[in-house]
Amino acid sequence: MVISAVLGFAVLSRYQQNAAALGLWDAICRGLGISTARDTASLPKASASSPTRLAWTADTLAVIRAGDAKHGAFVAANCAACHQSSRENLGLVIPRLDGIDATAIYKQLEDYRTGARSWGVMGAIATALTRKDSADVAAYYATRPAGLGRRLVSFSEREFNQTDPARRLAFIGDPKRGIAPCAACHGPAGYKLGAPDLYGQRSGYIERQLAAFAQNTRRNDMYATMRMVARQLTVDERKALAAYYGGQDQSGSIGPMSQR
Ligand code: HEC
Ligand code: HEC
Repeated sequence: MVISAVLGFAVLSRYQQNAAALGLWDAICRGLGISTARDTASLPKASASSPTRLAWTADTLAVIRAGDAKHGAFVAANCAACHQSSRENLGLVIPRLDGIDATAIYKQLEDYRTGARSWGVMGAIATALTRKDSADVAAYYATRPAGLGRRLVSFSEREFNQTDPARRLAFIGDPKRGIAPCAACHGPAGYKLGAPDLYGQRSGYIERQLAAFAQNTRRNDMYATMRMVARQLTVDERKALAAYYGGQDQSGSIGPMSQR
């Protein structure tokens, strides 16, 4: 009797699925079916697989579409110190924003705001913006000239006969490992809603984000698409892809396709 009571009330009921072990008193209450309603099991936990709160609803897309680039320029005065594109400011961890699709910028700001993606300063900055500000600043950056973006990239059938490992991954992927080609979502073959443009992004930033997805420290991608891709890549492949996408002169004069 004593042994089974200890097992049933103090040992077995202590351990809960997906949460920390309970204290002895909570465990006994739980074993008896009385909830002590303390944190752990009773609190809803953010889903580990996709904590983004944003969904591509008609409302969200309408907010983004209504973004006013002129007002966005005023909002962006608070961002320039870090996000300006000048060559002197090639910080490794700060992404360029010029030319990135507005849906992608808006989604990231929303994720910083809700904590789905965390990086100290950006969280504080995004919290200070209203949704309208975010849409406006996204519209502003999306329409900046000479940035990342689609007009710089052309591709031809030659891309499908690549031997260079980074270009192979970018255009063909690796079916054996279940890696879809980056080009299918990040362009130029296709553009998935919310996938940021990569051509002309800073290599160091790309590499860090791939590592963060692979290590599950960045988890705001819907359906874990990027985490599944990044986990399959070796460290060398991540480096090579970062160098390939980032290896474009920021003026746009040296397109990635002409570097061969
Ligand atoms: C103090 C420097 C700093 C300031 C000011 C700043 N940012 Fe950032 N921002 C960063 C850093 C660093 C990152 C990358 C953080 C990470 O790795 O998650 C970032 C990331 C971002 C991203 C994600 C981009 C991507 O490709 O995923 C967006 C969007 C963004 N910032 C928008 C803004 C906007 C809009 C403002 C102004 C309202 C702003 N930032 C002000 C430093 C800054
Ligand atoms: C199935 C579509 C898909 C494929 C394939 C894909 N990506 Fe992504 N990628 C996305 C989406 C969507 C995001 C935005 C995630 C989010 O919401 O934070 C993203 C984000 C990223 C980011 C972060 C960019 C930023 O500015 O924050 C990098 C870097 C990246 N992808 C690189 C790659 C590389 C390299 C490949 C190929 C090996 C690849 N992706 C393949 C859909 C894809």
